[in-house]
Amino acid sequence: MRLIGLFAAIAALFAPLSVAAETVRSPDGRITVTLDADGEGVPFYSVERDGKPLIAKSNLGFNFTNDDPMRRNFEVAAQKTASVDTTWEQPWGERRFVTDKHNELALTFAEKDDTPRQITVRLRVFDDGIGFRYEFPEQDHFSTARIAEELTEFNIAQDGTAWWIQAGDWNRYEYLYTETPVSSVSTAHTPITFRFEDGIHMSLHEAALVDYSGMWLRRMQGTNFRAQLAPSPRGPKVVRNAPFHTPWRSIRISDGPAGLYESDLELNLNEPNKLGDVSWFTPHKYIGIWWEMHLDESSWASGEKHGATTENAIKHIDFAAEHGFRGVLIEGWNLGWDGAWFGNGREFSFTEAYPDFDIEKVAAYAKSKGVRIIGHHETGGNIDVYERQLEDAMAFYERLGIDAVKSGYVADAGGIIAPDGKGGETFVWHDGQEMARHHLKVVKEAAAHKIAMNPHEPIKATGLRRTYPNWVSREGARGAEYDAWAVPKNQPDHVPTMIWTRMLSGPMDYTSGVFSLKGRGATEPDIPSTLARQLAFYVVIYSPIQMVADLPENLVKYPRALDFTKRVPADWSETKLLQGAVGEYAVIARQDRESDAWYVGGVTDENAREVTIDLDFLYDDTEYVARMWIDGEGADGLGKDRHAMDVVERTVRKGDSLTVEMARASGFAIELVFSGE
Ligand code: NOJ
Ligand code: CA
Repeated sequence: MRLIGLFAAIAALFAPLSVAAETVRSPDGRITVTLDADGEGVPFYSVERDGKPLIAKSNLGFNFTNDDPMRRNFEVAAQKTASVDTTWEQPWGERRFVTDKHNELALTFAEKDDTPRQITVRLRVFDDGIGFRYEFPEQDHFSTARIAEELTEFNIAQDGTAWWIQAGDWNRYEYLYTETPVSSVSTAHTPITFRFEDGIHMSLHEAALVDYSGMWLRRMQGTNFRAQLAPSPRGPKVVRNAPFHTPWRSIRISDGPAGLYESDLELNLNEPNKLGDVSWFTPHKYIGIWWEMHLDESSWASGEKHGATTENAIKHIDFAAEHGFRGVLIEGWNLGWDGAWFGNGREFSFTEAYPDFDIEKVAAYAKSKGVRIIGHHETGGNIDVYERQLEDAMAFYERLGIDAVKSGYVADAGGIIAPDGKGGETFVWHDGQEMARHHLKVVKEAAAHKIAMNPHEPIKATGLRRTYPNWVSREGARGAEYDAWAVPKNQPDHVPTMIWTRMLSGPMDYTSGVFSLKGRGATEPDIPSTLARQLAFYVVIYSPIQMVADLPENLVKYPRALDFTKRVPADWSETKLLQGAVGEYAVIARQDRESDAWYVGGVTDENAREVTIDLDFLYDDTEYVARMWIDGEGADGLGKDRHAMDVVERTVRKGDSLTVEMARASGFAIELVFSGE
């Protein structure tokens, strides 16, 4: 203890003079954040790493529709510090144990006038980044915040490369990513990821988006960004009564790509599990009456092409039972799909089935086979209709033994139909305050019925799965459905980019496993992928629910690939990003939560590449069998032969390495189990 005290004293002697009291360091001392008010009383923060500026002076503040702005004339009125070093356990996840080690400073700013308003900025500094939020205490001169705009800046200290998707456009989050200089970004969704010349990787996002509008980032000039809250039809983008606090604004910082991906920053900034025992949910894989609709071989709507028939459901349940998949998703079973449901949803019933779908019989049959139906709630973006039926809809599924629901909000961005509070309708954004409220309302109602939620066209993930673990997954990016009907399909660099962008926010229901590698006829060419790449997705894209998306008749045509999807877990005790480069390639290793087995997945962009994987993560003195699903001779994810695949075995130990070649737009999957098992 005495020695540590001495080191601290020496460190203090050498601390630069400019470091004021309002400075917080990360536990490892590499990140320094300054929080203060400048000469004009403007609250600001700045971030340095290893003594080099990463975020230059960035102002903090708010504009209101009902009050003066909070942007200058403040002074520091109080400060409080704290330190945390703890480990908590995820019920399921990319890793079992998460370390939360940070130093905290809460600085209260007060206005220097006769009616002083106060605002506290709470800052947490971790070794892998920072989080800060605003807290509006109960106070005399400010009771209701009608926030016109949040003025938080992220004044990035240097130019570099950015990977991002546009915000405020029609299609929510379902875009291919753009790679540009930081200084060329326009208005972006978060997470947005940056790489600087010295190799530092950084991403901006938010944590615990509760009862507040989602944060977009608008580049003001050069490399200076400012928060832009998702719009609201009411005028103010957020309306809250004090006391309340905003979501955390989060900045992941890492020496390289591995640390950025492996960080648990946003989870650590969220509150612990509020649901208690959630052992009723089991991570699983599922098939569905789904891809056939996306291929336009059947329809959600009723009639001759109707996909969700009793007979088709029974066929899928039999397939799931035979191959050991826990879930069968059935879309289009309920009334309301006829006509224009997109952005409308007024006809949807969540408890009444089409006459050719006997839901009681299907549910009973599934139960008899040990399979679970996965429920579906497409809303067409109409939360007015959905919320009115919500309780009945969840109770209905619970009675049928359905414990996981996929929902959907298909409507243009800004086209969600919400109640206006006066008996009418209003249009809101998928990531505005109303939808932040709506999603949690659904998740809580679902939890009350022991149901897990997987929304498509959702609000972005901000780590709330820690607090509400039944919010198990979501879409929120361009998923495999685009390979069925979009031009262009998901390009080879899409997944290698998402790994360091969308996937930083949380699990994604990408719906992998299209073994046929074919979309609708009219969308030639074939899906840019090899067969082995489809398997890699189960390892590189984390979700505790994983779809095996292709038609059963296609899945059985590729028995070795099907075998992998049966074996690969959906729940992990550890995750490591072994190597990669944003937008180019990634190799990720995960250890099974249920056994000692490891799985390694790799994906590449449009470039073929060879990777050598050091097996340092295996146990000492243990022989493993490495079973590898890799490209076969002539395989080419952009060429004629996309299906050539070999399954080979090697005996390996810790310290050995495996070299794998990936063709263009390809990938691989490896299973490592104790030899003799
Ligand atoms: C869009 C979803 O992403 C897709 O999975 C679903 O099949 C359709 N909406 C219909 O709900
Ligand atoms: Ca979608």
